[in-house]
Amino acid sequence: MRKNIMIDCDPGHDDVMAILLALGNPDFFNVIGVTTVAGNQTLEKVTLNLRRLYTYLGMSTPAASGAAKPIARELVLGDLVHGESGLDGWDFPEPTFELDSTNAVTFMREKIMNCDGKVTLVPVGPLTNIGLLLATFPEVIEKIEAISIMGGSIYAGNMTPDAEFNIMVDPEAAWIVFKSGIPVIMSGLEVTHAGGITHEEIASLCAKDGRVSKMCGDLLKFYVSYHDGVGYASFPLHDVCAVMYLLKPEIFTYQDLQVEIDCNDGPTLGRTAADLREWMKYENPNTRVLLDVDREKFIEVLFEAFTNLDVMCAQ
Ligand code: RIB
Ligand code: CA
Repeated sequence: MRKNIMIDCDPGHDDVMAILLALGNPDFFNVIGVTTVAGNQTLEKVTLNLRRLYTYLGMSTPAASGAAKPIARELVLGDLVHGESGLDGWDFPEPTFELDSTNAVTFMREKIMNCDGKVTLVPVGPLTNIGLLLATFPEVIEKIEAISIMGGSIYAGNMTPDAEFNIMVDPEAAWIVFKSGIPVIMSGLEVTHAGGITHEEIASLCAKDGRVSKMCGDLLKFYVSYHDGVGYASFPLHDVCAVMYLLKPEIFTYQDLQVEIDCNDGPTLGRTAADLREWMKYENPNTRVLLDVDREKFIEVLFEAFTNLDVMCAQ
């Protein structure tokens, strides 16, 4: 039986790669819906990016747009990394794809409650839509198998010394998710930086004939230009990890830890505080924290998905 998933995203270059990994493995994933949330860019821009991506691919999933801002705070954009459009680097067509809904929360509830079997949520942006879903419709909790997020970090943030962007944008929503009792799989910055792509691998995508691989190569050329500019040693494909773990858990190493979210204004706001004390034994730690990945295998599986889509989306 295929794994039912819903992806919540703020496309965003790495969000797109995560969506393509799922769509490029149709025998394994049943993507019952994709929803958008403000983060890398405004809700309007990230939703337009999803619609333009689907139009370019010539394939799609049911989709809805969600929250335009965090539950309790002002929106902070990640536009430095992803450009003015939120997905700079490729000339997408004007969209012909239309959303199912402009209310992601009721859209997610309907998809989850009507799905045969349980659903795994894969949020790879700020957790606003997921927090609102769990608070508004708690009946969905028993139908959710796990929540595989990209977000957080155990040792160092990327927005502040303590906080990673997706958690930092909406810590209250993250608090709801991590307190929900639903198993959380956390692809934090430790593992996402271990799964970085190289310039040479990007160049190999650009050199391919396939229209999806070539698009990914050009998008990633733009994406890494920011990281090059600020001195990153590797180019993390953050969001891909949250999907890749579901597909290939065996290429990851992890620890099951109790993780709490810091919602207090101040220098540690948005911290995913993991209890690393060896003598502290938790009966049911709430989070599987991914810490490392076989990078070569990670890239190989991702490129296979692009190649599958080169065929599936050929014109
Ligand atoms: O910190 C990385 C996260 O922020 C990724 O999800 C990226 O897409 C941005 O949303
Ligand atoms: Ca994202």
